[in-house]
Amino acid sequence: MHALGIETSCDETSCAIVKGRKVVANFTVSSLRYHKRYGGIVPEIATRNHLKFIDKVSLLAIRKAKIDFKDIKVIGATYKPGLLGALLVGVNFAKALSLALGKPFLGINHLHAHLFSPFLDNRIPFPFPFIGLVASGGHTEIFLVKDFTQIKLLGRTTDDACGEAFDKVARAFGLGYPGGVYIDKIYSPDFKESFSFRCGRKGFNFSFSGVKTAVIYKKSELEKEKKMDRGTKIKILSSFQESVVKTLVEGIEEAATKLGIRNIVCGGGVVANRRLRELLKDLEKKKKFKIFLPSLAYTTDNAAMVAGLAFYLYNKRGKVSNFNLEVEAN
Ligand code: KG4
Ligand code: ZN
Repeated sequence: MHALGIETSCDETSCAIVKGRKVVANFTVSSLRYHKRYGGIVPEIATRNHLKFIDKVSLLAIRKAKIDFKDIKVIGATYKPGLLGALLVGVNFAKALSLALGKPFLGINHLHAHLFSPFLDNRIPFPFPFIGLVASGGHTEIFLVKDFTQIKLLGRTTDDACGEAFDKVARAFGLGYPGGVYIDKIYSPDFKESFSFRCGRKGFNFSFSGVKTAVIYKKSELEKEKKMDRGTKIKILSSFQESVVKTLVEGIEEAATKLGIRNIVCGGGVVANRRLRELLKDLEKKKKFKIFLPSLAYTTDNAAMVAGLAFYLYNKRGKVSNFNLEVEAN
């Protein structure tokens, strides 16, 4: 049995087909290059591109999977959270497909799909209960996951998402978008403590807006003093990245320790960060936690994680269609 997934919550138009957790097709078209010059995502551009490509990525996925639309047993689409117009395109396409084929439609929570991403293309048993971290451009959230139908929010960012802080700092330094990718490349461990930047953390909540502002102020200050050269830039950005990824790791470590849970699952674009992955590995070694990370292909937005979760919810938990389901924007 196959599940088809649709993801259109932000700038990626994606369609995937899975068989259980095996990804048999996963096609994504990103409108990123049209947003780059604005330094962030422009919702209308994203929506128009979804409309342009949703049918094409779906046909490509069906062709790659070497199946027919009638072989699909369930259709899942991201219905929250995300950009309003962007979500509407994906959800309505999925509902139409579902009606035309007479197959069930499931609305999928994008954040839950990110937590499913480490389990794609493998047979690792689901490590319930686990602490889930979603770290992306729009989200920084910690969950307690007893099952993919029982997910409780423990904490979140109270201002900027961690990926958003990466993007805004990168923009201030004239780097490209998405900023995390560029800062990750520039990062040098030798300079991780050259500047002491601190992110906020209280209970299971985070704050990344203060550190972003501190970094941007520091840059202007050093520019005024004519002390800003390439070396200083690397020092500032390395120290900034270190403070963000360390704070994320401290947050999940505290949640797992306080709740007495040994398994930790991470997902979202920021989880592609090399230093974050390294710190998580260190945590696993030192503290006897078991940590599950997505492969790099499934860290950023993709429909494979949506299709995988739809398959699980339909097949294992008997979830049924709800055509009254409305999209929920950020
Ligand atoms: O999950 P995602 O594709 O979209 C959202 O749901 O937001 O995440 C995109 C975010 C961007 O903020 C981007 O800067 C960040 O993930 N990102 C990274 C890296 N690759 C992408 N942040 C840090 N290091 C990376 N290597
Ligand atoms: Zn995402």
